[in-house]
Amino acid sequence: MRILVTGGAGFVGSNLSLAFKRDNPGAEVIAADNLKRRGSELNLLRLREAGVRFEHADIRDPSDIAALGPMDLLIECSAEPSVQAGYGGNPAYLIDTNLRGTLNCLEAARTHDATFVFLSTSRVYPIDPLRALPLETKCNRLALPTGAAGPGWSEYGIAEDFDLTGHRSLYGTTKLSSEHFIEEYRAAFGLKAIINRCGVLAGPWQMGKVDQGFMSLWAARHLYGGTLSYNGFGGHGHQVRDVLHVDDLYDLIALQLTKAEEATTGVWNTGGGANNATSLKELTDACSTRSGRSLGIACNPETNPADIPWFVTDSRKVSRTFDWRPKRTLDDLLDNIFEWLEVQRATLEPLLR
Ligand SMILES: NC(=O)c1ccc[n+]([C@@H]2O[C@H](COP(=O)([O-])OP(=O)(O)OC[C@H]3O[C@@H](n4cnc5c(N)ncnc54)[C@H](O)[C@@H]3O)[C@@H](O)[C@H]2O)c1
Repeated sequence: MRILVTGGAGFVGSNLSLAFKRDNPGAEVIAADNLKRRGSELNLLRLREAGVRFEHADIRDPSDIAALGPMDLLIECSAEPSVQAGYGGNPAYLIDTNLRGTLNCLEAARTHDATFVFLSTSRVYPIDPLRALPLETKCNRLALPTGAAGPGWSEYGIAEDFDLTGHRSLYGTTKLSSEHFIEEYRAAFGLKAIINRCGVLAGPWQMGKVDQGFMSLWAARHLYGGTLSYNGFGGHGHQVRDVLHVDDLYDLIALQLTKAEEATTGVWNTGGGANNATSLKELTDACSTRSGRSLGIACNPETNPADIPWFVTDSRKVSRTFDWRPKRTLDDLLDNIFEWLEVQRATLEPLLR
């Protein structure tokens, strides 16, 4: 068994590589990454210590992928994962990695008859209809009115049948385009591919920055000091996301691989769900309590063109099909992140402060 994890030094890729190696000690697990993300290099030691082989490779270059050799399972975790990427500049890196690079990985999976796992995103759902949801402010968060529902949305969140018409950010478009190609590869070549449309993922070893990885950024700034700001939607910090622990994502993928025939059809919304949703303001309160530090958080009312006020993942389909639900609560997640930040303080403080 050979498992290739592209983006394997990143947050999701490193955690999945380690979990696959732990549960399949006889397998050769290869984490390939170009180390573009600042902080990914910090994962190399833990990969090595666990027996995961690291290879420097850039998925934009098919010869880099070919040099990695055959594989039975290819988990595509490499990306420019920021929804703000490409705005106000040249989107070439985003498109070359998230679309062309993913196609190179897909081609490698076809060549070697490998099962392909793709981490798509909730950001495939278009921005304007999400902004048009009838949200109201309840305490410190935006919420749907009780009982409100429409096509593809309800108190459970956004489901797979939410209308896809409209723009969705450059990032979201690279991911949806990749999904379309994966669908074609399934039909044309019988490729076995799992597409998980993930909401916000979080956990230890996420190198949070202002435009990506807000849970660990928030925790790190509270613990180490630094500045934070509520951006967009009036600058109140009322915007909401559900969050899934990366270990719960691994549990799901492991289950899906045992039911591959079913898993390799359609798409699966995958997220923490309504019980694991938080607003930024609520997250601030939780981080202040844990760190004992209260940060004066700046308010920037201006909304970024790619931003949305509320996203909760309706994961009922994936839950039902694979008898899976998140085991880790938001509190567990924050406990894990704070513990990691404490233990690794000397290494992480210069990066995340
Ligand atoms: N983190 C989330 O909240 C979230 C949510 C939904 C989907 N996803 C998807 O999950 C996947 C993993 O995201 P993440 O949070 O681990 O991001 P990450 O930035 O931590 O990891 C991505 C890794 O890919 C590497 N990379 C970038 N360009 C590359 C290239 N051209 N060739 C090889 N490696 C390259 C980076 O160096 C990094 O280590 C991505 O596809 C992302 O779009 C993430």
